[in-house]
Amino acid sequence: MSRVIVSKDELDRQREYCVLIGDLFRRVKVSSDRFPTYSIKTYGCQLNESDSEKMAGYFELMGLSENENTPDILLLNTCAIRENAEERLFGNLGHFKALKTENPRMIIIVCGCMMKQSSDLERLRKHFNFVDLVFGPQDIHTLPEMLYHRVSEGQKIVHVSDEDYLPDDDDLPVLRKRRFRALVPIMYGCNNFCTYCVVPYTRGRERSRDYRRIISQLEQLSEQGYEEVMLLGQNVNSYGKDLPGAPEFPELLNEIAINKWFSRIRFMTSHPKDVSDRLIDVMAKNSSVERHLHLPFQSGSNDVLKRMNRGYTRERFLDTALHYRNEIPEGTISTDIIVGFPGETEADFEMTLDLMRRVRFDSAFTFIYSKRPGTAAEKFTDEVAPGVISDRFSRLLHLQNNHSLLSNQSVIGNLEEILIEGISHTNKSVYTGRTSSNRLINFTIPEDSFPVDGSFQITPDNEAWLEGKKAMVRLIHAKTFSIEGRLESFL
Ligand code: 5AD
Ligand code: SF4
Repeated sequence: MSRVIVSKDELDRQREYCVLIGDLFRRVKVSSDRFPTYSIKTYGCQLNESDSEKMAGYFELMGLSENENTPDILLLNTCAIRENAEERLFGNLGHFKALKTENPRMIIIVCGCMMKQSSDLERLRKHFNFVDLVFGPQDIHTLPEMLYHRVSEGQKIVHVSDEDYLPDDDDLPVLRKRRFRALVPIMYGCNNFCTYCVVPYTRGRERSRDYRRIISQLEQLSEQGYEEVMLLGQNVNSYGKDLPGAPEFPELLNEIAINKWFSRIRFMTSHPKDVSDRLIDVMAKNSSVERHLHLPFQSGSNDVLKRMNRGYTRERFLDTALHYRNEIPEGTISTDIIVGFPGETEADFEMTLDLMRRVRFDSAFTFIYSKRPGTAAEKFTDEVAPGVISDRFSRLLHLQNNHSLLSNQSVIGNLEEILIEGISHTNKSVYTGRTSSNRLINFTIPEDSFPVDGSFQITPDNEAWLEGKKAMVRLIHAKTFSIEGRLESFL
């Protein structure tokens, strides 16, 4: 695989295809009585979310509008991290086939990390031949060109590149899903080759975006009114290592913070082996940087960590986590944990529980090990029995749920600044938002708090008004995954 910078000229060429497709649709119309619509379903991580925002940007340039229920173009952006993510996609494809039977001119596009797995690609070709267009995570910038050929010439297209493309994101059109939050990848790919992980194979080698271009993009986003920026990368702490002379991640974070462009700066993911004292120092000194660190530890056993090729020991992880706790006492730490990695003994697992007790993670994403084709761990033979894994998994969940609840209980009574995200999906008189420490807050708004006229009907307009507003919320009741609160004032 080689690294290829995608030029502005190339991206301009793709924009021209958007115009051509728009013209084509105006003439032939995919569906007979109206201009075509699109829908994007995104599986997996924030980087996929960000890719989907770019592809939505292309669709909008073509003049298409979004229609979740009866789209003429359906795009599925897939994830290969664990087998269950893949099975979910194949399960859903059966349903989409039925939609295509109802609307035969529908175009189904499948892209993302699964397309880099040859076994998945084969299965797709063999059993799901109604899919019209297939491409990999490195090819999203060429969506307009591929779609144009599909629509104008009719043949199915499969195009999965091995090149490590680095498109200059500020030249790509983007339709952002949240009006207050800008997802901004600062780097792509991963060089770490953890033995269980497909990402280095699906997303290629690490490549950092140009420092100055990131900075000027962020300045523009701030001028456009985004309150929150989320800097993305598989391992943001190795930002710049492939760019001779470029500042490293803590300096990037510091520059963004001192410019005061955003009220909240978030970032993910940090690899424990690359978190430096300097990073923690920059976080501590800049209040706009979130009071939250996502630091996946995966296993508390040095033996397992070694076989996972994680590049740190439990002692070093503990040092980093406890240093963070000392420097930013109000901050939270979340983590990722894998249970049942091949060869994990009861003693190894106990070390995982022990590490959890020492750090008391405020929240955790917990996973059962999933064997991935092409990874080094695929060949590890000492698999843990499923019954043992599920027993360990429930013990782990039990401990973490305790810790999560205790963590939420520790802030009850506080008045905290939150950034409002919108109306709760489950209860329309409840609003949701997050603290700077990334705690999820579900809160009510007393009638007389609305600045409008004391009464507030929930309409799309005032929901839009609320999104991205800041407010002071009293935290009242702790649950395991969220906190209930009451708004005291808007900011
Ligand atoms: N099996 C289980 N969990 C995995 N993860 C990555 N690969 C696997 C796998 N093969 C988890 C890790 C990582 C998170 C994004 O997904 O915990 O941090
Ligand atoms: Fe996968 Fe490890 Fe890279 Fe994370 S750091 S993407 S777990 S290989």
